[in-house]
Amino acid sequence: MLRTVVLVSGGGTNLQALIDALAEGKIRNAGIVKVISSKPGVKALERAEKAGIPGAVVAKKDYDGTEAFNRALIESIDLAEPDLIVLAGFLVVLPEELVKKYENRIINIHPSLIPSFCGVGYYGLKVHEEALKRGVKITGATVHFVDEGCDSGPIILQKAVEVKKGDSPEVLQRRVMEEAEWQILPEAVDLIAAGRVRVSNGKAEVTEIL
Ligand code: GAR
Repeated sequence: MLRTVVLVSGGGTNLQALIDALAEGKIRNAGIVKVISSKPGVKALERAEKAGIPGAVVAKKDYDGTEAFNRALIESIDLAEPDLIVLAGFLVVLPEELVKKYENRIINIHPSLIPSFCGVGYYGLKVHEEALKRGVKITGATVHFVDEGCDSGPIILQKAVEVKKGDSPEVLQRRVMEEAEWQILPEAVDLIAAGRVRVSNGKAEVTEIL
């Protein structure tokens, strides 16, 4: 079983998509062993509790500086002995040490078609505001491995979503979640659990079933 730790900061709808996909057998050979939130009292923690998954809070404000926070975050993750770490709306920059330690074992869901609307400052609703401002007709979501950069790691899966006339950032965000994020994040975890995702020369490839 692929021991998966999910890192969250808010609503946790992507976490819920993973929980549901596991329950429905759409993700095989994996389990969520821990959910870690960077904020206390968020809905994502409620979702974890309801699903019987241990939850933990590692919040910056509880630590004396970034280094102490980073150490606590790494310790909380290490304790769960994960094979895979999923960033599901985790709005904290990961410590470099963590990224190195879990190379090609951390994935992130981003609400655009990378390399559009990504990088520093592009998260949550902001991504959709910028996409609408630019007037793109197609947007989407990306699951990628996390490297030392911001949204720059190998791309595993992407799914396109249509922008419709009159979309507000909120309406577009919801469509991208429903049509793309909640589909490709569970799919990526299932593929990884099946050993079907390989990284070489900075690119991720999904291999066929033999
Ligand atoms: C999701 O749309 C996710 O793609 C985005 O935050 C939202 C979290 O929602 N992540 C980023 O913008 C990362 N750069 P959720 O808590 O309901 O899953």
